[in-house]
Amino acid sequence: MIIYDSKFGNTEKVARALAEGMKKQQVNVDCLKVDEVDTPKLDDYDLLATGGPTHAFGISKPMKDFLKKLENVNVSGKRAFAFDTKFKSRLAGSAAKGIEKRLKRLGMSIVKSHISAIVKGGEGPLEDGAEEAFEQLGADMAKSL
Ligand SMILES: Cc1cc2nc3c(=O)[nH]c(=O)nc-3n(C[C@H](O)[C@H](O)[C@H](O)COP(=O)(O)O)c2cc1C
Repeated sequence: MIIYDSKFGNTEKVARALAEGMKKQQVNVDCLKVDEVDTPKLDDYDLLATGGPTHAFGISKPMKDFLKKLENVNVSGKRAFAFDTKFKSRLAGSAAKGIEKRLKRLGMSIVKSHISAIVKGGEGPLEDGAEEAFEQLGADMAKSL
């Protein structure tokens, strides 16, 4: 499952691109926004790719709430990957870094180090090629499942 938060739609775009890449490798994948996820159902999934926008150098509030809910589900041993959208600046911080840390703390196995898609402004757009890169990433990840 791909789980995303998105205020302006940019993280949703890369989440959907990631899902598309997996689908092209015949992997069954669902792509849902944090507030649509029925956490007990997560048990049916092998991999949780989780991503959101970087807010105040870290994780957005809706994603934080979701990660808190995840503490009540047994996801230990499942595979995980974290991603985010953020500014290019070295001082931008990264939601994905924090998400990855929390997923690891829940006993999940990180299949690939967190990756960021860059936005050119607060409301976007994404840098050219970001969606293509995430689609490729999804395909590569699906092949390694
Ligand atoms: C309240 C708020 C705080 C933000 N803080 C940061 C930040 O610390 N670092 C950063 O790189 N981007 C920051 N941004 C910009 C977000 O990275 C950008 O809005 C996001 O990547 C867009 O993704 P979305 O369209 O999925 O919401 C902030 C945006 C908002 C709305």
